[in-house]
Amino acid sequence: MKKILVTGGLGYIGSHTVVALQNAGFDVVVIDDLSNAKEDFKARIESITSKPIDLEIFDLKDQVAVKEFFKTNKIEGIIHFAAHKAVGESVQKPLMYYRNNLLGLLNILESMDEFDVDNFIFSSSCTVFGQAEVMPITENTLTKRPESPYGNTKKMAEEILEDYSAVSGKNVIALRYFNPVGAHPSAKIGELPVGIPNNLVPYVTQTAAGVRDFLQVWGDDYPTRDGTPIRDYVDVNDLADAHVKAIERLLSKSNKSNLEYFNLGSGEGSTVLEVVKAFEEANDLKINYQIKERREGDIIEAYADNSFAKSELNWEPKVSLRDSLKTSWNWEKAYRNK
Ligand code: WQD
Repeated sequence: MKKILVTGGLGYIGSHTVVALQNAGFDVVVIDDLSNAKEDFKARIESITSKPIDLEIFDLKDQVAVKEFFKTNKIEGIIHFAAHKAVGESVQKPLMYYRNNLLGLLNILESMDEFDVDNFIFSSSCTVFGQAEVMPITENTLTKRPESPYGNTKKMAEEILEDYSAVSGKNVIALRYFNPVGAHPSAKIGELPVGIPNNLVPYVTQTAAGVRDFLQVWGDDYPTRDGTPIRDYVDVNDLADAHVKAIERLLSKSNKSNLEYFNLGSGEGSTVLEVVKAFEEANDLKINYQIKERREGDIIEAYADNSFAKSELNWEPKVSLRDSLKTSWNWEKAYRNK
């Protein structure tokens, strides 16, 4: 079986992607430093797929450890999730974000050269577009300097990959996720924010679980249909499938250039209040919320044109927002009652 390295493979999107890779017949090895993941996710994933994961626990900033890993593992392709991702924290600690997210990437890329690994999938983000002028957002929409250091590490990483793929002959795909939501139908894995959730849906599920008293809606004075910002919420299981299709594209040498970008979104925009309402209807419960001031750095609107991923990756989102909000709630309940 072809062995795929998944860095950050115990994280939210990483763990769902490991499930999809194992179900697709790949042999998976995970490197994770557990800075934003729990080690028991290894057993949780294995209980879903009944297949063992080789888990290596170390920090990708440790160049010696990275090289040692590649000396003993023949890797056909890499899916690179490992990065810090808290927008607010990145504003407070920019150097930690630049060092962690970029040095980890550079150590992996340098080992690809030294150990002849040819295929690389990068976990990018729609944050590289900032507030785009025109909707929906395509792969050709101009990127901008993102508002946060977190977002800027994604943009800088893409620029590093442009220069690297141009001269190295390596095959690279950057997947730009819009807003990942949902959990695995088994409710054995899902989003597990450390501390107070930054993102909307885990804050909603923790409010429903009584962990938070109420949801703070950051501003309802935006120029949108109900005054709250619009985002493209895409199910994490659909994102996982896109990663399998992307690595298969590279392994079969079906890519049409050394660096390809794909926007991974549902193609639909939903406001914050529409998400809250959909959550209430999907799960037959009420969510307490209070309207607060706008959050610094938030954009008004973003949703994807996903036609390129549909045509070139043969991928399309299958899980509805309503179903993602059901699986999110099922995961929250299962985790709280573990
Ligand atoms: C969505 C909307 C908030 C929480 C970020 C990153 C992106 C990706 C996803 C990592 C906004 C509102 C939120 C809350 C709220 N990150 N909101 N109350 O900011 O679109 O994207 O997370 O992979 O790269 O940029 O997602 O979920 O934080 O916010 O009102 O308690 O929900 O203002 O309008 P965002 P989000």
